[in-house]
Amino acid sequence: MKYVRSSSKKYLPSKEAKRISLAPEDIYKKAEKSKIKFWANLAREGISWIKPFTKDYEQTSEKFSWFKDGKLNLCYNALDRNLDTPKNPAIIFIPENVKEKKQTLSYLQLYESVNEAAFLLRKKGIKKGDVVSIYMPPMIEALIFMLACARIGAIHSVVFSAFSAEALRTRIKDGKAKILISCNYYFRKGEKIFLTKKIKKACRKIKIKKIIIDRKKTGKIFVKKNTPIIPPEPMNAEDTAFILYTSGTTGKPKGVMHAIGGYAVQAYWSGKYIFNLKRNETMWCTADIGWITGHTYACYAPLLNKATTVLFEGMPTHPTPDRFLKIIKENKINVFYTAPTALRMFAMQDNFTSKYALKSLKILGTVGEPIDKETWNWLFKKIGKGRCPIIDTYWQTETGSAVIDALPGHGPFIPSYAGKPFPGIDYSIINKKGKKAKSKEEGLLVQIPPFSPSLIRGVWNNPQRYKKYFIKGKYDSGDNAFYDNEGNFRILGRSDDIIKVAGHRMSTAEIEDAITSLPEVIEAAIVGKSDKIKGMIVAAFVKTKKPITEKKIIERVIKKIGPLSKPSEIYFVKDLPKTRSGKIMRRILKGLLEGEEIKNLSTLLNPESVEKIKVLIKKELPKKK
Ligand code: PRX
Repeated sequence: MKYVRSSSKKYLPSKEAKRISLAPEDIYKKAEKSKIKFWANLAREGISWIKPFTKDYEQTSEKFSWFKDGKLNLCYNALDRNLDTPKNPAIIFIPENVKEKKQTLSYLQLYESVNEAAFLLRKKGIKKGDVVSIYMPPMIEALIFMLACARIGAIHSVVFSAFSAEALRTRIKDGKAKILISCNYYFRKGEKIFLTKKIKKACRKIKIKKIIIDRKKTGKIFVKKNTPIIPPEPMNAEDTAFILYTSGTTGKPKGVMHAIGGYAVQAYWSGKYIFNLKRNETMWCTADIGWITGHTYACYAPLLNKATTVLFEGMPTHPTPDRFLKIIKENKINVFYTAPTALRMFAMQDNFTSKYALKSLKILGTVGEPIDKETWNWLFKKIGKGRCPIIDTYWQTETGSAVIDALPGHGPFIPSYAGKPFPGIDYSIINKKGKKAKSKEEGLLVQIPPFSPSLIRGVWNNPQRYKKYFIKGKYDSGDNAFYDNEGNFRILGRSDDIIKVAGHRMSTAEIEDAITSLPEVIEAAIVGKSDKIKGMIVAAFVKTKKPITEKKIIERVIKKIGPLSKPSEIYFVKDLPKTRSGKIMRRILKGLLEGEEIKNLSTLLNPESVEKIKVLIKKELPKKK
């Protein structure tokens, strides 16, 4: 499959790429005729229903449903129906330590393991609708328990394993989880990372059952024979499949809720059409299972499509920078899906790509943050060798599946542009005046109804917060973007106080709350500062009443949230720029950090603070490098 450059800016699929595309040539046209019928047809074709639906889409203000009267089971769709070829590999687990052997679980082995885990959950009293917290790195049992939850109709809530004890505790408490599944340790960059202490701390004085897996035995835990069969629970399409906490604009994380039917349909078809994923092909999505990307493209989409998913435990540059290429080569990966930050890290150390032919690769995908042209070109030429399209997928925890992207047989592939909305999904851009933006005019990215099947259905315990996602009948993504005159979208970044660091989503308010919980601190403002590798780093402006060390601030953030959120630069300031209503002007602080000229300070309560911070940054910055 070859991808050809049509102009200095665009690549287009070749005839061969078009020929083998799983998405039909006329897919956009077909979807455009009736988006609802389009999705209803896909739902019937791609998903096995216990009770077929007769209702497709319904909506009353911000509440909407898909396939409401249908019944299905997500685990059945991911496993049971794939047992016609039971020996096909479902999961390949690659330990970080090269001396440890990789483990492959066939569909039958995975099915048996999931059945046993489901039996165990039932034995522990877990019922349909109960919340199960899973605090684990990408390892076999994380997927086994996610699927076991889906099998019995429990709701999984996976918590990223690098989150702190306090962050885990908040999520367990908010979800009112009945049980916590975790492991004793895992490996990262050659180090053993222990979870046991964190688990103990997180569960202090909380009534919660626990299952702690021994990492040494991963893949060999559920091997008992003769466990009674746990039949897949018939679930309503609109029942909650899982919740996943993500950062919002307040200090409190939001439990994003996804509905089983819509999620299954869109995970299945996005896997097929975006990644051209066929049965028995192998997909490696490097995202941690604690993020939505890990849920959809390291677990559900590959399994729903009867493909093989690769789980890698640790750091893809460990012990040597070409580790990720060795994994691609040894496991004959067809689809490689990762974040631009990881690619920038690989490219920086690149003196190895020419040694690898990487013939198995057919699709390269990126996610989580904008990809710059330089990295795009490196990926296209050095990894894809000009044969593979780069699919820059735009989406969010809230959308559940990728929603804006070029399709491999359709294109065009334009460096730094995500592409067009997935067929059957409509996005638009609203300018400052609240009108539809013209081509190349920047504005707010919104989704237009009918809303996509896997779009968020609620915020756990917080129906008011859910309503805030919708403005004038449209779903507000919180991102700024523009489109070109052919309707290809370019994502520019967040319009709110969320920042993306190395592709990870963080709430400035959550980090600020952690810092201001220190008695020495009066106020704090967090902003994202551009960074060549991570896209952004966390910078903190802190106003104190007593002296405090940077170390203490960093430790507090790690304790409250986790190491990913720790500030890379801290500035101690006498005053923070504020509006007359008392709102801290983070935009000005960001501008100062980026060396921009700050104009029009007339609306500020304390305009003199700006010059002082400018001088401070100039003085401090060289020491921070
Ligand atoms: O700002 C957008 C950015 O990531 C945000 C969603 O983060 P999260 O919920 O953690 O999900 C990440 C993985 C799906 C978006 O609001 N984002 C995601 N994909 C892209 C992106 N920004 C630019 N280009 C992308 N392809």
